[in-house]
Amino acid sequence: MPPPALEPVTTDGEVLLTVEDLHVHFFTEQGELPAVDGVSFSIKRGRTLALVGESGCGKSVTAHAILRLIPKPGRIVRGRMVLYSRRAGIIDIAALDEGDDPLYQVRGGLVSMIFQEPMTALSPVHTVGSQISEAILLHREVTAATARRMGIDMLRRVGVAAPERRYDQFPHEISGGMRQRAVIAMALVCNPELLIADEPTTALDMTTQAQILGLIKAFQRDTGCSVLFITHDLGVVAQTADDIAVMYLGRIVEHGNVRDILKRPGHPYTQGLLRSLPSLNTGDRLAAIPGAVPSLTAIPAGCGFHPRCPHARTGLCDIGGAPALRALAPGHSVACVRAEEIAVGNNHAG
Ligand SMILES: Nc1ncnc2c1ncn2[C@@H]1O[C@H](COP(=O)(O)OP(=O)(O)OP(=O)(O)O)[C@@H](O)[C@H]1O
Ligand code: SF4
Ligand SMILES: [Mg+2]
Repeated sequence: MPPPALEPVTTDGEVLLTVEDLHVHFFTEQGELPAVDGVSFSIKRGRTLALVGESGCGKSVTAHAILRLIPKPGRIVRGRMVLYSRRAGIIDIAALDEGDDPLYQVRGGLVSMIFQEPMTALSPVHTVGSQISEAILLHREVTAATARRMGIDMLRRVGVAAPERRYDQFPHEISGGMRQRAVIAMALVCNPELLIADEPTTALDMTTQAQILGLIKAFQRDTGCSVLFITHDLGVVAQTADDIAVMYLGRIVEHGNVRDILKRPGHPYTQGLLRSLPSLNTGDRLAAIPGAVPSLTAIPAGCGFHPRCPHARTGLCDIGGAPALRALAPGHSVACVRAEEIAVGNNHAG
């Protein structure tokens, strides 16, 4: 099936992907749970968008939707996801059916993903190399010998020492850091236009974490690919991202340029995330956000963040629907009904 004819969402040729009003619901015994509840963002060519937020806010579900990998009982109930691919033209990913050629192209190399759990991305019963070669052979018409050479080259590029030997080893025979590099090699070997990295450095030591971030950056510099970088850690965002989208309870509550948001966060949730970063000196968390992310079965009325928000006003923040994203400054949007007042207060305070 050819890509569907679409009005471009934007005339900006530099945009690679736009996600518009995406809703992903899980149909469970507890009811219909809106894990992603009207998410919109775009990713520019060659740039990195960080998707941040606490556990359970919908980051991975958003990423899986882009690859149409939402497991049952989940379903995309609304929204568009348009990829402006240089190789394959315009593809509305949300409109594709399983088995459509463009979906095969999207999964087969236009978009690739470093999954959150590296061990689940690797099969324990096959060698590292055979899994990388399989990824190559699935999408490229090359001989097995060429796939082997490409796989070893890619392992070398992602910093695996003695790649010829590692190639023939099983995942349990190599260290956690090596395994994560092997998973990254699998994601990069198809030369994606969009790389989705879902918490690629969680559970790695600081040195390995810095190396992994460095090699994603180097790949991006070499190929011009875009990156959707998912993390709950605003600390790594400053080093990796151009833009940030902050998610809370399935919605984007703040969106903009990384420097603006880290310097002048507009949403009380983003402010809380920044305050809860571990201190550089002591490693202690200075001020954790009180409470926890509510369950999707009990989403608060009004602003979903109001039970935890130090600026919440009864009768204003706890009624009606969730606040919409509004521009606080050019290129900087915030979903908070009190955003302007809070910004003025912060300026006076600081
Ligand atoms: N298969 C499923 N069935 C029901 N609910 C699900 C399913 N998968 C995810 N969810 C729910 O969707 C919400 C978003 O989950 P998601 O995995 O996207 O969070 P996340 O932001 O990636 O969190 P983390 O930082 O822990 O990875 C959560 O409330 C989760 O419980
Ligand atoms: S809308 Fe109200 S509760 Fe929500 S973040 Fe803004 S001030 Fe806090
Ligand atoms: Mg996740």
